[in-house]
Amino acid sequence: MPNVKLNNGVLMPVLGFGTFQLRESVCQQSVADAISVGYRLIDTATLYKNEEFVGAGIKDSGIKREELFITSKVWVTDSGYEKSKIAFETSLKKLGTDYLDLYLIHRPRGDFKGSWKMMEELYKEGRIRAIGLSNFTPDQYADFMKEAKIIPTVNQVESHAYFHQIDTYKDSKENKVQMEAYTPFAQGRNGLFTNPVLAEIGKKYNKTNAQVSLRWHYQRGVVAIPRSSKKEHIIENFNIFDFKLSKADMATIAALDLNKTQFPTWG
Ligand SMILES: NC(=O)c1ccc[n+]([C@@H]2O[C@H](COP(=O)([O-])OP(=O)(O)OC[C@H]3O[C@@H](n4cnc5c(N)ncnc54)[C@H](OP(=O)(O)O)[C@@H]3O)[C@@H](O)[C@H]2O)c1
Repeated sequence: MPNVKLNNGVLMPVLGFGTFQLRESVCQQSVADAISVGYRLIDTATLYKNEEFVGAGIKDSGIKREELFITSKVWVTDSGYEKSKIAFETSLKKLGTDYLDLYLIHRPRGDFKGSWKMMEELYKEGRIRAIGLSNFTPDQYADFMKEAKIIPTVNQVESHAYFHQIDTYKDSKENKVQMEAYTPFAQGRNGLFTNPVLAEIGKKYNKTNAQVSLRWHYQRGVVAIPRSSKKEHIIENFNIFDFKLSKADMATIAALDLNKTQFPTWG
């Protein structure tokens, strides 16, 4: 699995496994399946209410903790210095680990600056290997940086074939913040899995729309975290390192950008 090097030198796998909406035994089994297939980055959050099942899946996989890259996120209602510290300890306990590889501010709401102070401290203590953001626009990032002492390593944002996030993409590159794509399939909205343009590209390489989407993220230098509860999809989504999209393919996908969220009610 190729890695990207974060701005603090930590290596992060370029492809991970998302766990939003995976619950209980399905979550546990899917995480164990993903690790057995070769995924090493597992993405969860307090909000997903599944950290104990993610932890159980990790345990079932039998893989050594240091081989994994575990991400969790502090939710808005836990924001602030004190509350986010409790949320962090709770996440660790549920996940069955004594450190996180990446901890993110889930959304720029509430007292997220207080959360960041706490995260900076835990980072310095070595309890989190990298700290970062999620759902920050370039303007929100600029404002955030007026007070932050440590530069965030990652900004995890919605990104898929219909929403390329060009502004955040450029801004992240300039600021040496790694962009990470959530909902890399837009959860299948707007017919992503049957989109004829992606299908036409995929036909050339004998790849599906899901694989073309993930390969596109990879070639843009964006980390992606697809989720699936089906082992055949988990395997399919992992098999993106044996083909290469041409410049023309990348340009064709660039033209699919609608430059707008597929999740207008989130926020
Ligand atoms: N930071 C944030 O605010 C935020 C927000 C949303 C998500 N996230 C993270 O990003 C991850 C990914 O986003 P997401 O889970 O919302 O959506 P997603 O990965 O874009 O899409 C998941 C959906 O795609 C289907 N699927 C997966 N692989 C497929 C394949 N090869 N062929 C056909 N269908 C396939 C899955 O169904 P099956 O189970 O049937 O395969 C599931 O319904 C989340 O799990 C979470 O970790 C973060």
